[in-house]
Amino acid sequence: MITMSVFRSFFIIMLVGTFGFLYWFILNLEKKTSNDINSKKEVPYNITPKEILRNGNGIIFVETTDRMQPTSLELCAVESAARIYPDRPIAFFMKGLPDISSIEDEDRAKNRFPTLSSHDNIYLFPLRLEEVFRSTPLLPWYKKVNPNKEVYWTHVSSDGSRLALIWKYGGIYMDTDIISICPVPLTNFLVAEAPRFSSNGVFGLSANHTFSWKSMEDFVQNYNGAVWGYQGPNLFTRILKKFFCDIPEFKSKEDIMCGNITFTNPDRFYPIRGPTWKRYFEVWDKNPTFNSSYGLHFFNFANKEHYTMVPGSKTLADHLYQQYCPSTYDAIIRHKSTYL
Ligand SMILES: *[C@@H]1O[C@H](CO)[C@@H](O)[C@H](O)[C@H]1NC(C)=O
Ligand SMILES: *[C@@H]1O[C@H](CO)[C@@H](O)[C@H](O)[C@H]1NC(C)=O
Ligand SMILES: *[C@@H]1O[C@H](CO)[C@@H](O)[C@H](O)[C@H]1NC(C)=O
Repeated sequence: MITMSVFRSFFIIMLVGTFGFLYWFILNLEKKTSNDINSKKEVPYNITPKEILRNGNGIIFVETTDRMQPTSLELCAVESAARIYPDRPIAFFMKGLPDISSIEDEDRAKNRFPTLSSHDNIYLFPLRLEEVFRSTPLLPWYKKVNPNKEVYWTHVSSDGSRLALIWKYGGIYMDTDIISICPVPLTNFLVAEAPRFSSNGVFGLSANHTFSWKSMEDFVQNYNGAVWGYQGPNLFTRILKKFFCDIPEFKSKEDIMCGNITFTNPDRFYPIRGPTWKRYFEVWDKNPTFNSSYGLHFFNFANKEHYTMVPGSKTLADHLYQQYCPSTYDAIIRHKSTYL
């Protein structure tokens, strides 16, 4: 009888002890995880445009619509830049991207674009116009303008963003219809798309350059949203002529110095000129080498029929994608419908 009750007491003590231990253990486990979360919050998230672009050598792309399905040409443009400029950060600002304030947000953003995420020099940032325009002449204009009433809002907001971003960070801005084929060896340059006429689809300037500031001032003072390009190539041509040089004609394949800015020959980015852009989607007897070009502008704005690169078609575009953006090319072959 005695041994039975001793055994029972012993059993109860053991039971209470076990529960006590379990309780203590779970409590500590909870404390530990909540500490982990807190300590994660304390690590500052410093993958910001300011940090990434601080050396002034970034390549900047901008998407001013909310669209989050880039076309194959846009993916090719960004991928080709990442390959041609492996030592420089490639920053793609997209309006449709949710805010990024942690590594997890960053991973989520990158996972949307598998062909880009394998390149560790590509950074995706949300485009917040008010923030981009802050401390520039464009902010008062932005606060006044009504995007719903603008005919070319996508273009105009893009024209403004690129100026503000290059003013603040320096580097090279490129449109998402340019395939990079060779690094630009210049810091301060504008690009001729035709004789005596500047493009604003690609340019490079150091941070705080007078050209960007003067352009933003003129943008606001002479704003005319009804005319396509008025804040774009027309503005760049105007500012060059007004403050830098009376743009001379090109004699041959040379670049021109225009004040302290190099004005590059149309061959550098427009070896195929505007009116003949469909040549990119044709089969050539012999594919050109483009050996005096840095990039190839595809004139997406003119492409109203939505010509696209068709893998295996042997067109010039087919060859160029294979050579300069092989990840995009492979993805198009694998999941055709999602990338066109
Ligand atoms: C541009 O100006 C800002 C603000 O005045 C300054 O902090 C920055 O160092 C300047 N950057 C360059 C490259 O001159
Ligand atoms: C470039 O030239 C402009 C106009 O002549 C001048 O105001 C500016 O300081 C120069 N900028 C640089 C970076 O040399
Ligand atoms: C560039 O290509 C052309 C033919 O397309 C050739 O005649 C020329 O020698 C090449 N130049 C260089 C520097 O390779």
